[in-house]
Amino acid sequence: MKEQSFNEWLDALKSKANIVDIVSGYVPLTSKGGRYWACCPFHHEKTPSFTVDEQRGSYYCFGCHVGGDVIKFVMDIENIDFMSACKLLSQKVGLPMPEFKSKKPGESIAKKKERLYELMRNAARYYYECLVSDAGKVARDYMKKRGISKETAVLFGLGYSPDYNGLPARLRSLGYNELEMIEAGACAQKDGRVYDVMAGRLIVPIIDGMKRVIAFGGRVLTSEKQMKYRNTNDTVIFNKKCEVFGQDSLKKYRLKHAVNSVIMVEGYMDVISLYQAGVCNVVASMGTALNVKQAEIVKRYSDTVYVCYDGDTAGQAATLRSLDIFYGAGLNVKVVSLPDNLDPDEYIKAHGVESFSAQLAKALPLFEYKLRTLAKNYNMNSAEEQGKFVVEAVEILKTLPTPAQIDAYIPLVAKLSGLGADTVRRQLMQGSEFTEDGAPKLLTQLVKRKDGKYYKAMRFVLYALFGGVEGLSFDKDLSLYCEDEDHKKLYDYYRKNGEGELSPDDLIALEKEIPEAGEVLAEGRKVNEKAARDYFDGCVKALENEFVKKQRKLLLKAYSESSSEEEKSQILAQMSNNQKKK
Ligand code: CTP
Ligand code: MN
Repeated sequence: MKEQSFNEWLDALKSKANIVDIVSGYVPLTSKGGRYWACCPFHHEKTPSFTVDEQRGSYYCFGCHVGGDVIKFVMDIENIDFMSACKLLSQKVGLPMPEFKSKKPGESIAKKKERLYELMRNAARYYYECLVSDAGKVARDYMKKRGISKETAVLFGLGYSPDYNGLPARLRSLGYNELEMIEAGACAQKDGRVYDVMAGRLIVPIIDGMKRVIAFGGRVLTSEKQMKYRNTNDTVIFNKKCEVFGQDSLKKYRLKHAVNSVIMVEGYMDVISLYQAGVCNVVASMGTALNVKQAEIVKRYSDTVYVCYDGDTAGQAATLRSLDIFYGAGLNVKVVSLPDNLDPDEYIKAHGVESFSAQLAKALPLFEYKLRTLAKNYNMNSAEEQGKFVVEAVEILKTLPTPAQIDAYIPLVAKLSGLGADTVRRQLMQGSEFTEDGAPKLLTQLVKRKDGKYYKAMRFVLYALFGGVEGLSFDKDLSLYCEDEDHKKLYDYYRKNGEGELSPDDLIALEKEIPEAGEVLAEGRKVNEKAARDYFDGCVKALENEFVKKQRKLLLKAYSESSSEEEKSQILAQMSNNQKKK
């Protein structure tokens, strides 16, 4: 019911905050002809064209055409956002904002998210209705032009937004307030009006692995000057970098078919088009650069990923980085290079599904792809460039996990360079850096996984510290144990602000800055109350042990590298000290 009360509170605030009183606090108003007038505070003028209508509770400037309600006025004049304007107004008129505090931050976030998921689902439903209504004819014509069938549209839940006002009106009628529409990213606010950010676009809902609508992609129907795609901005429930498009359709497909690999493409239309053609194990990164979280999603479905990016982006730095991220997540990576700069959608339309499958079959294993891509930059008729290529190629080989695998690629490097295998091998031996386990250093950095035991332990500890475990008193300093950047930020926040009891606003702000926060703070719901305290202690212990172990490794290394006796005995002392702590 809290959400409702915010809505009501907002109405109360608007009626209590008399616009004439509020505006007079900033500019002197004079009454004339039933209206109030002033020189506009938002643009320079000598005769008043800024007017306030007390009855309607609105203001408008005939000179610069700004206008809106009392909240909008405060936003504009103070240059602050909607929420801050509400807060400021609430102080001005003495109507305190209700505090939505909860003992369990995880729970209050979860509730808030639940409400936003619902809102987005309702928005998707509205868009779908519009698509099949009379107003949707333009969008249906566009779909026809692109060969998207009705079945496909239903399967992906496609829709259409005919205008700026339809969606907010629908959502309002369903009991959502404007703040929620904005928080969900479905709407934005301009000149005091809340409007649909997707107006005029074909809507592609982004649905997560739990069947929740978390965002929309909107494509313009005409090739006018507008941005081709517009996406819902990041919100409490959507972080574009960390999601893939097509998880829901992939899951539907997986109910009936084995998924042996996942094809990763760039765009919405690529997924939709391949799926319709019968290539259903496909998801999109929604742009070129890839994030670890996206690779982890793919890993949930298969160990093999075919990266099938647009022809024009393959080989670019962003693509290569993406490949490393997949590799780092433990995936077997194959790279598909479609000819003629076609994207998968265009390719399958031009050449058909069999030809597309043949392209998949021709996909190169990651390292072969990297080496061949690299080779293209060198003219192997020049001895100097041959040498340069080998140096670079060896750097790539060094990121392979085992000496055997490195060996396996030596003939290819030799062949591409036109130099002998011995030359390649000699280059490999130069200044090689291996870790204690014999694995090349670079790789160990790459595969530092995020789903490890200690990562999870730290997560729970943070959850507990933020009030998730009742009656916890704890004063150890854990900052040394936070290896993950987000965890470190969260922990620092905790140290600065004290424990527990964050308001929803704090949490939203926190989560914007630290994407991990929401997940961390929802973590403990999985743990039974009584066991929580024990579990907490266990986590702290595990973190301490891990830390001591790492320290010992470092000290051992320092010991073996040190040539000074004095330093060595210092290191030994430190080691035994560490041992005692443990
Ligand atoms: N994208 C985006 N914002 C943009 C452009 C692109 O989020 N301004 C994402 C979308 O997910 C898009 C993908 O990047 O689907 C690939 O972009 P692009 O290759 O430009 O578009 P296509 O998918 O080929 O779009 P279409 O076939 O509809 O022209
Ligand atoms: Mn395309």
